[in-house]
Amino acid sequence: MPVTVIIGAQWGDEGKGKITDSLAGHVDVVARYQGGDNAGHTVVHGDWMLRLHQIPSGILHEGVLCVLGGGMVINPKTLIAEMDELQTRDAFRARMLISGRAHVIMPYHIALDGASEASRGAAAIGTTRRGIGPAYQDKAARTGLRMYDFRLPDDKLADKIRAAVEDKNVLLERLYEQPGLDAEAIAAQFVGHAGRLRPYIGDDSLALAESLEAGKQVLFEGAQGILLDIDHGTYPYVTSSATVLGGGLSVLGVSPREIKRVIGAVKAYQTRVGEGPFPTEQTGEMGARLRGTGANYWDEFGTTTGRPRRCGWLDLVTVRYSARVSGLTELAVTKLDILSGIEELQVCVGYRLDGKTLDRVVPPVEDLARVEPIYERLPGWQEPLGHSRRFRDLPVNAQGYIRFIEERTGLPVSVITVGPGRDQSVER
Ligand code: IMP
Repeated sequence: MPVTVIIGAQWGDEGKGKITDSLAGHVDVVARYQGGDNAGHTVVHGDWMLRLHQIPSGILHEGVLCVLGGGMVINPKTLIAEMDELQTRDAFRARMLISGRAHVIMPYHIALDGASEASRGAAAIGTTRRGIGPAYQDKAARTGLRMYDFRLPDDKLADKIRAAVEDKNVLLERLYEQPGLDAEAIAAQFVGHAGRLRPYIGDDSLALAESLEAGKQVLFEGAQGILLDIDHGTYPYVTSSATVLGGGLSVLGVSPREIKRVIGAVKAYQTRVGEGPFPTEQTGEMGARLRGTGANYWDEFGTTTGRPRRCGWLDLVTVRYSARVSGLTELAVTKLDILSGIEELQVCVGYRLDGKTLDRVVPPVEDLARVEPIYERLPGWQEPLGHSRRFRDLPVNAQGYIRFIEERTGLPVSVITVGPGRDQSVER
């Protein structure tokens, strides 16, 4: 059972990139399984800050195979920009494999995402407008372009793209009353992208099977978070892919028997970007305190869109729910340092709804919007945590906060991050 999985147990942005980066030093393969450039990981590398949207964080590790898995939707232009940045800095250390089954995000997906959000008005989902939903729509409708199409001869690929653009222009022009896109220019541009990416395209499921047969250690990296899962998340305020562990197994084509550890990344408080209910949200002073001003890159502003994130108290109902639907075996608590200096902390341990108490169920959004969070209060600590490296280095109340999470979720916390730097972690 050589597979470890890292997965966000909230609404995304849990700081998975840093955990993946540290785990990647001990594995042979890192495979990302879903999403596209709606995700964003920040990894600090010396004095250089690396923002990755599609390439798994393992790319910085020599000898690792980085897989962009079959459940992803890939924006070739932004992927090539990431590759270029890594190459310029001589940091493209790993090998990269792009699943031929991954779908391609086309300019019309991005245009349709924006047009559909605008037309929803107050009912907008608050998507990242990266074309994610429309690309997955085409996948389900069996009209998508896959990375395997990038292996077609240039003229055949260009024909396919032109036809797809002309098809979508009907929607853009007639339904959304927007200008159509230039089919010829897009075809030429994507033939260029295909030339660049072709050497990396292959069969991810086979590569994973061969690695596992050879006894190699594999890490699966989920993007977004379990509460944004298309089925188990707060629908319709979700992303369009399966973020849960089962989604990873399905799209990568790997047996569940291979799974050893499932690490749920949990931020020490709670954040959400976009619309949708958020029971522990703090809109006043505490929300602003948790968010930060935006002056630091670790403040709560989206890595991909720059949008301010909504912030609130840690919600253990969502964590218990995520543990149940994805079989978490342990937790990684991130950004504990942000809570330093808050006198009294609150943690949500249950919801009250129509006279009942819920403690491991995240109900449908209509009900989630009505729940009353049940809080427990815990004493805070004043000391900064950035220099802590062992659990006993943490202030007693910070240790108590972690123990409280363990008691109330029944899961061990195996790592705690106390700052953005690569070494700012407490392993237990
Ligand atoms: P989409 O994935 O762009 O379609 O956006 C759907 C919802 O998921 C919106 O609420 C987004 O803000 C949210 N979302 C998508 N990707 C991320 C992420 O990486 N972190 C946090 N939220 C995300």
